[in-house]
Amino acid sequence: MTTRHLLTGHVLQYSGNPFVEPWENAVKILENSAVLIQDGTVRAVGNAAFVEGADVVHHDHRGRLIMPGFVDAHAHYPQTAIIASWGKRLIDWLNTYTFPEEMRLSDPAYADQIANRYLDLVLDHGTTSVASFCTIHPASVDAIFSAAATRGMAVVAGKTCMDRNAPQGLRDTAQTAHDDSEALLTRWHRKDRAVYAITPRFSPTSTPEQLEALGALWATHPDALMQTHLSEQVDEVAWMRDLYPGARDYLDTYEAHGLLGARGVYGHAIHLTGREIDRLREVGASLVHCPTSNTFIGSGLFDLMGLARAGQTVGLATDTGGGSSFSMLRTMAAAYEIAQLRGDAVHAAQLLWLATTGSATALHRADEIGALAPGLAADICVLDLASTQAIAQRAREAGDIWDAVFPTIMMGDDRAVAEVWVNGQPLRGGK
Ligand code: GUN
Ligand code: ZN
Repeated sequence: MTTRHLLTGHVLQYSGNPFVEPWENAVKILENSAVLIQDGTVRAVGNAAFVEGADVVHHDHRGRLIMPGFVDAHAHYPQTAIIASWGKRLIDWLNTYTFPEEMRLSDPAYADQIANRYLDLVLDHGTTSVASFCTIHPASVDAIFSAAATRGMAVVAGKTCMDRNAPQGLRDTAQTAHDDSEALLTRWHRKDRAVYAITPRFSPTSTPEQLEALGALWATHPDALMQTHLSEQVDEVAWMRDLYPGARDYLDTYEAHGLLGARGVYGHAIHLTGREIDRLREVGASLVHCPTSNTFIGSGLFDLMGLARAGQTVGLATDTGGGSSFSMLRTMAAAYEIAQLRGDAVHAAQLLWLATTGSATALHRADEIGALAPGLAADICVLDLASTQAIAQRAREAGDIWDAVFPTIMMGDDRAVAEVWVNGQPLRGGK
């Protein structure tokens, strides 16, 4: 018989979407409860999880929050080494910091080094799944999927395609983008826990011919995801208009080339027109909110409450390294702050759901990750709710469990991550 693991502590539980129904109904914390895992999978949660036996190993997390591992729905692992680079807005930031660094990943050994460093960093922060852009180099895709496989992680990734407005050495063509992406998709998609995302970087760095070729590829492989950027910054939207004079709006540059669909994942989506919002909802496409990036690069205030309440699928992400943190705690705090600037108070229950099930749903993987429920993967993050003096003194005076959790969301970092399980294995822990 294989070993069973019993984790006891406060357990985060979901039964609905806290943006479309009262959060109190949709999200609960079961105090002094339990999660039972076996063979990489959650077997039971709550009272049913309290089992005894010689094969049961007990992990006592009294006073801590046992929750699903965070799911970061939009990141650029190749930007790990340039995170927090000073003083630029999007287009200058890409040209000054991002493209030179992405060029370095033409060396497969460097790509391997950065992919491994990146996944170790995100695990330290309690993130067990990511959807990452790579670079134009096929070996950068092999690097992240191989590093994820070593750790047992469920990762979404794809070769970033660009055939204009990028430096020599970082451009492919419509044909090579199609062919390289197809070869990588065939190699990696659904291999173990890997999911491939066809990845045009964004309309300004693709010709219409490249978007068309990638749209055709998606039509041939409809089970793949498609990830890109949409309406992040006002200057970028103006640039898109110059490059695509016939397009009705930014979304239309994708829609006209077969790159709008339910399995499409659109990062940022800040400066949307009414038509774009309606179309995205109609097709059931996913939006990804990247709040630390939106403040760091000065992009704007995403309408989280408006879009999520209207039933739009929304995930949450760091957007490393445009985002200024690897931490989904810090990312939730930034989402809270941006919503405050728009006049909305997002509840801790909504933030935690967004950073887990919300992102998993955006990536069409909610049947596998993003929640603690029987049959789902045992990808788990255990949070210490008193990880620093500042948090502890605040949590001590908390009126209820939600009031005890909120200071960790707002002030927590990797010191709050007490233990991380991936696929039923404890990868980080002992804090
Ligand atoms: N738009 C196109 N590429 C990028 C990128 O790498 N980061 C961000 N934040 N926006 C982008
Ligand atoms: Zn991005």
